[in-house]
Amino acid sequence: MTNYQELAEDLAAMISGVPHLVANLSNASALIFHAMDDLNWAGFYLMEEGKLVLGPFQGRPACIEIAVGKGVCGTAVAADRLQLVPDVDAFPGHIPCDGASRSEIVLPLHANGRVVAVLDIDSPRLARFGEEDAVGLGLVAAVLERELAPLWQA
Ligand code: SME
Repeated sequence: MTNYQELAEDLAAMISGVPHLVANLSNASALIFHAMDDLNWAGFYLMEEGKLVLGPFQGRPACIEIAVGKGVCGTAVAADRLQLVPDVDAFPGHIPCDGASRSEIVLPLHANGRVVAVLDIDSPRLARFGEEDAVGLGLVAAVLERELAPLWQA
């Protein structure tokens, strides 16, 4: 089981004071991908002109654009809520990027009072993510929001 407190601290130490959004998101995706077991994808989609566009990630190539309200990622934006999906095949409208993905967790990230990105994590294992992951990744999302706050375009 991932020590999310430690992961959040490592992330803060890594990105704090680094004035480069893409570099920080890239390192964050790598840190998360290697800190958690049984993942096949971990990364970011960024809000650009009203839709989600693929950002830095670890894993296989993925879909480039996702409309708000579509898929797990677009639903996380539309609802402005974490989406915990134990079985992607049971999620209406799930967008399959890597056919290996069986479960998924998506957290919206905020800046200036709005959703600016999502953190998307996929696993080839059914029901890989639970409440403990949701809470722990909430710590990670809070660090990203805090440390990246000055780097998003207004
Ligand atoms: N499955 C996501 C699409 C992104 S990939 O998982 C990397 C979705 O339904 O939004």
